[in-house]
Amino acid sequence: MPAMAEAAPLTIRSMERSDLDAVMAIEQASFPVPWKREHFLQEIHSHLSFPFVALCEGALVGYVCPMSLFEEAQIMDIAVAPEARGRGVASLLLEQAIALSRQRGAERLVLEVRASNLAAIGLYERFGFLRYAVRKGYYEGKEDALLMEKELV
Ligand SMILES: CC(C)(COP(=O)(O)OP(=O)(O)OC[C@H]1O[C@@H](n2cnc3c(N)ncnc32)[C@H](O)[C@@H]1OP(=O)(O)O)[C@@H](O)C(=O)NCCC(=O)NCCS
Repeated sequence: MPAMAEAAPLTIRSMERSDLDAVMAIEQASFPVPWKREHFLQEIHSHLSFPFVALCEGALVGYVCPMSLFEEAQIMDIAVAPEARGRGVASLLLEQAIALSRQRGAERLVLEVRASNLAAIGLYERFGFLRYAVRKGYYEGKEDALLMEKELV
């Protein structure tokens, strides 16, 4: 991937099948238990899901997988390439996920996050997500999951 210029513009579009090599590389660099390619294919094909990607100078630098069902939308996955972090890519993806969830009629947006993932928790809190529950030992039987939500109405 080319180095990202300081103020290079970011663009967003729907995730496509041909994005999956780049998506998988980011996924594997980002999570201890990464999603498989089939997960992303399901997201691309499901009528409930609306995954999209962020591009910088033609390179895929991040993605988000939201889905919505009636009044509730959920962020299933979000990640940014390690070398592109800290530059607002996730913020742009989340803004778009919030806007599209509203458009689809969702009244709340929910997600779950590892209790140790301070970068992600910081991101979500900045967007007004609040913690509403904890699932003890949810990840590998060891780490708690925080459940967070944002009211959209
Ligand atoms: C979490 C993640 C998506 C953030 O992506 P990003 O593009 O770097 O985020 P942004 O640049 O848009 O940052 C937005 C806000 O998030 C918070 N944040 C981001 N990185 C942070 C860090 N390392 N430490 C603390 N807060 C952080 C800050 O509040 C930041 O706002 P600020 O820049 O005004 O301080 C990225 O670190 C990532 O891909 N992590 C691995 C995958 C992951 O954990 N996904 C979430 C699963 S629930």
